[in-house]
Amino acid sequence: MYENLAIVGATGAVGRLIRQLLEERKFPYKTIKFLASKRSAGTELTFNGATHTVEELTPDSFEGIDIAIGSTPDEAAAEFAPWAVKAGCIVIDESGYWRMKEDVPLVVPEVNPEAIENHKGIISSPNCSTTQMVVAMKPLHDAGKIKRVIVSTYQATSGAGVVGEEDLIEGAKAVLKGEAYENKAFSHQIAFNLIPQIGSEKYEGYTSEEMKMVHETQKIFGDDSIKVCPTCVRVPVTNCHSETIMVETERPISPAEARELFEKTDGITVIDNLGAGEYPMPKDCTNKNDVFIGRIRKDLSCENGLTFWCVSDNLRKGAATNAVQIAELLVRSQAAV
Ligand SMILES: NC(=O)c1ccc[n+]([C@@H]2O[C@H](COP(=O)([O-])OP(=O)(O)OC[C@H]3O[C@@H](n4cnc5c(N)ncnc54)[C@H](OP(=O)(O)O)[C@@H]3O)[C@@H](O)[C@H]2O)c1
Repeated sequence: MYENLAIVGATGAVGRLIRQLLEERKFPYKTIKFLASKRSAGTELTFNGATHTVEELTPDSFEGIDIAIGSTPDEAAAEFAPWAVKAGCIVIDESGYWRMKEDVPLVVPEVNPEAIENHKGIISSPNCSTTQMVVAMKPLHDAGKIKRVIVSTYQATSGAGVVGEEDLIEGAKAVLKGEAYENKAFSHQIAFNLIPQIGSEKYEGYTSEEMKMVHETQKIFGDDSIKVCPTCVRVPVTNCHSETIMVETERPISPAEARELFEKTDGITVIDNLGAGEYPMPKDCTNKNDVFIGRIRKDLSCENGLTFWCVSDNLRKGAATNAVQIAELLVRSQAAV
């Protein structure tokens, strides 16, 4: 039985949500421990009405643990996952470190749940901007095979963790008071601004965040022929990433058919009434687990093209919800044996 859990990075932006989701979804467990760096070790948190002390992550942290859900920076994930696997624990990892490794399934339960069967101890959850896009792509891909995607993202500051949110709120207060503010997460002022760079310079003028969207999409669909052209932009919104997504399919899919396909898909909510001013917006999608879609219309520049607007809570479906759904898949697959 998978009944002993560890939450690694439990004090971070994603870790907090993982705790909340495990409570909300009544995830079954016998024991649970919360791990973080030395900085937070010793702090107390409440989970399901009980008080727990955060422990420092060490090589011995995983003795007797069945499932560890990790949301730490890449360097910490690179180090702790092998400790956990050695102790016989399955790791569900949110960081970017393991996602593209050959033996590591990269899973979005609405898209490729079967991939968890191939794990060798580590299962990765994709980058937040990839996750909502592939959930939206899946019904269209199944119906008409997507050949090409052009995506522009409008990514919230919480995507850069707790300090990203601080840079927006405290930075905005400083700008309004005419005071200086030293950014912690971003290389430029984010308040009252847009930053057309997320991640480092990576390949042919694309950033690391953009190349994650290319490679992770191809890995999740198991299809390297899907072409992805991303532009990732940080915007002064605290939570929920938004994306304009243009897809070119092998056969034409009309906006009406696309709307029907989206409406039939678990995990997608359609809000699409331009005349009434109804479409998904970050303020309305925060704290929700679904991927929200609106502005569905034909791409006037491309024969088999369709374009739409997509919003999702990056801390929920983009991270914590996806990881907890993977843990639920593991529990269900074990119950089925
Ligand atoms: N934010 C998003 O929307 C999002 C979406 C998808 C994936 N992710 C990925 O999820 C991971 C966490 O992101 P976040 O936004 O939650 O970041 P965060 O708010 O900065 O939280 C990081 C967490 O990792 C812990 N940590 C840092 N270094 C550690 C170490 N050496 N050993 C043990 N624990 C350590 C921190 O503990 P302390 O309290 O001790 O510092 C904290 O609990 C990142 O890899 C990120 O790329 C984030």
